[in-house]
Amino acid sequence: MGEIDPAFIQAIEHRPNLSGVEAGGIPLIDLSLLSTHSLEGYCIDHPQTISDLVEEIASASKDWGFFQVINHGVQPDLRRRVETTAKEFFDVPLEEKRKVMRDEVNPLGYYDSEHTKNVRDWKEVFDFTVDDPTVIPLTPEPDDQRLRQISNQWPDYPTDFRDACEEYCRAVEKLSFKLLELISLSFGLPAKRFNDFFKDHTSFVRLNHYPPCPSPHLALGVTRHKDAVALTVLAQDDVGGLEVKRKTDGEWIKVKPIPDSFVINVGDIIQVWSNDRYESVEHRVVVNSERERFSIPFFFNPSHYVMIKPLEELVDEEKQPAKYKEYNWGKFFSTKKLSNFKKLYVENIQIIHFKISE
Ligand code: OGA
Ligand code: NI
Repeated sequence: MGEIDPAFIQAIEHRPNLSGVEAGGIPLIDLSLLSTHSLEGYCIDHPQTISDLVEEIASASKDWGFFQVINHGVQPDLRRRVETTAKEFFDVPLEEKRKVMRDEVNPLGYYDSEHTKNVRDWKEVFDFTVDDPTVIPLTPEPDDQRLRQISNQWPDYPTDFRDACEEYCRAVEKLSFKLLELISLSFGLPAKRFNDFFKDHTSFVRLNHYPPCPSPHLALGVTRHKDAVALTVLAQDDVGGLEVKRKTDGEWIKVKPIPDSFVINVGDIIQVWSNDRYESVEHRVVVNSERERFSIPFFFNPSHYVMIKPLEELVDEEKQPAKYKEYNWGKFFSTKKLSNFKKLYVENIQIIHFKISE
């Protein structure tokens, strides 16, 4: 990626105005209590310390849809190792990376924007699933019950790439379950209320590489979007570029890199489960002309057969009727994967399509 190709230039409405605000920022939450306290069987009334933490998670999820966590239990050296080998991987010649390129059959592996018709985003990517193989529907067709397995594609070099990625994702998987339990408690539900939905989870990890961009005011690393997932647990390096749309006034707020922290955001699935108590918030990535940037989102997703709908406990026919019709996660996921491939400028499937009009 050298000179900016006209195809990358964002439509006027999507252009970054680069006015992201530094002040305030998303809440920072210390999870050190989790290393000494179990959430299982925990009751919201006691002990006080956990209920304070649950309260922090509730306010951050409600007010921002985003927060950062520190003292989360993921060892910094696991993260360092995956960051180092990811950088080595992206440095190999394109012909090598193409050997593990994703295609219409296997959505996992390497891709860059030029080669997947995705001319919107100034980045290259490597995707792998946490459970390998992962089972998803064969096609997005609602009546087609057939399933298929998708398997990770690993490059020969760097030699410890696969090990580093696998070890890292197991640690982040543990953290994701703890966050899910905290979120469940924050609705006044038992800690493990959501866990059954994740028995054969379809979570995946994305290694993002954003090269320096010669015209950062004309392109974005990732255009504005919401994550269709349950939760995202993102590691970003010290360069910065992630911006979150503040709910109160729609300003783009920069997410300040904090060493070894993770940025957490509530995705569309939690928005539906919670019947809009929490909202999945828009975010984007701006690029710069000086420094390349790396980030690693872990997208925490339920099993393909889970039907997503507002939780019974959070619905009340009279006062809080369900705001969404149910949808099948696997079908939604495969429709989305396919539309990424086939028809970029056609509207993607969104939870709004399942909204019950009021
Ligand atoms: C994403 C995303 C943010 C980042 O991949 O969905 O929002 O900082 N990434 O890379
Ligand atoms: Ni995102």
